[in-house]
Amino acid sequence: MMEYITLKNSDLKVSRICMGGCPMGGYGWGAVQESELIDAVHTALEKGITFFDTADTYGLGQSEMTLGKALGIHRKDVVVASKFGVRVGGGKTIYDNRPEWIQEALYASLKRLGTDYIDLYQIHYRDNVTPINIVVETLEDLKKKGYIRYYGLSNIHQRDVQELFPYVGKFVSFQDEYSLACRKNEADMRMISDQLQLTPLTWGSLGQGILTGKYDKNTVFDSNDRRSKDVYVNFHGQKLLKNLEIVEVLKKIAGEHKKTVAAVAIRFILDYLPGSVVLCGAKRPNQILSNAEGAGWNLNQDEIKLLEAISAE
Ligand SMILES: NC(=O)c1ccc[n+]([C@@H]2O[C@H](COP(=O)([O-])OP(=O)(O)OC[C@H]3O[C@@H](n4cnc5c(N)ncnc54)[C@H](OP(=O)(O)O)[C@@H]3O)[C@@H](O)[C@H]2O)c1
Repeated sequence: MMEYITLKNSDLKVSRICMGGCPMGGYGWGAVQESELIDAVHTALEKGITFFDTADTYGLGQSEMTLGKALGIHRKDVVVASKFGVRVGGGKTIYDNRPEWIQEALYASLKRLGTDYIDLYQIHYRDNVTPINIVVETLEDLKKKGYIRYYGLSNIHQRDVQELFPYVGKFVSFQDEYSLACRKNEADMRMISDQLQLTPLTWGSLGQGILTGKYDKNTVFDSNDRRSKDVYVNFHGQKLLKNLEIVEVLKKIAGEHKKTVAAVAIRFILDYLPGSVVLCGAKRPNQILSNAEGAGWNLNQDEIKLLEAISAE
C-alpha cells in the first residue's frame, strides 16, 4: 500500500515515493525509450504514486515534455514538481535566479508540461547573486497569478539557513542527495527540515542505481551514461566496493521480507528520515513496480541499526 504525506505549509498531499524525472530527460542515462517511460508513468499511477519531480534542465526540457504527454488527462490528479534556476545554452551552464529568468523559465516549463500550473516550483540551485527576498517576491507574484501553487528549495545546506529564516512558512520543501550510499547530507537535512519547517525530499535515493543490487564491481557503463564518469562516485573505486557491501546487507533483508533490494533501500529512508519523501528515477514499468514495494511496511530496529552501521561515512 502506498503511503501519503502532506508537504509542510501546504495542502499538497503526495505519495512518499515520488517518480523522479531525471532519466526521463533521455540524456546521460544510457538507452531510454519514450514508450517505456510513458508506460512507467502509467504504472506509477496504478501503484498510487501521485508525485512526479522534473526540471527544465533534464534533457533540456525533454523530461517535462514526456511527463506532460504521459500524464495527459491524469494531470489534475497528481502533484507535479519542477525546477528553475539553471540555464543551459551555448555550451555553458549558469545559475540564474533573476525574476526575468524565473518567469521565462516558468512559461517554458508550463508549455512543455502542457499544463497551466505547476504544483511545486523549486529553486534548483541558488545563484548567490539575486537576493532571496527578490526571488520570494517573484514566486509570490506567480503564486497569486495561479501559475504555481507552492514553491520549494533544492541543494541547500547549513550555510543557507540564515538567509532563509525570515521565510519560514513560505517554502514547503527542499531536496538534497541522500541514500544509504550518500549520508553526508544527513545532519544538514535533519537540521534544515527542523529549523526551517520544510519537508525533506531525497534525490539519488538509489545511489543512481547502485543500491538496486543489479550492478557489481565489473560493471562498465557506456560513454553516454553519466555513471561512466568518476564524478559519479558511487560506481568507482573504494566507494563502489563499500556500496557493494551495503548491497549485500540489503539483499539479505530483502530476502527476509520478500521485497526487492531497491524497496529496502527506499524503506530505509522512509523509516530513518521522518516525514521525508523519496525521489527515485525510473526508466521502465518494472522499476516502478520494484520501487513501489518500498511502501506499506517497516524495517525493524535491528535491520535499521545494521544498515546504519554498514553505511556510516
Ligand atoms: N535537486 C537536484 O539537484 C536533483 C539532482 C538529481 C536528481 N534529482 C531528482 O531525484 C530523482 C532521483 O534521483 P536519480 O534519478 O538521479 O537517481 P536514483 O533514483 O538514485 O537512480 C535512478 C536510476 O536507478 C535505476 N533504477 C531505478 N529503480 C530501479 C529498480 N527498481 N531496479 C533497478 N534499477 C533501478 C535506473 O537506472 P538504470 O536502470 O540505468 O540503472 C534509474 O535511472 C531524479 O530523477 C530527479 O527527479 C534532483
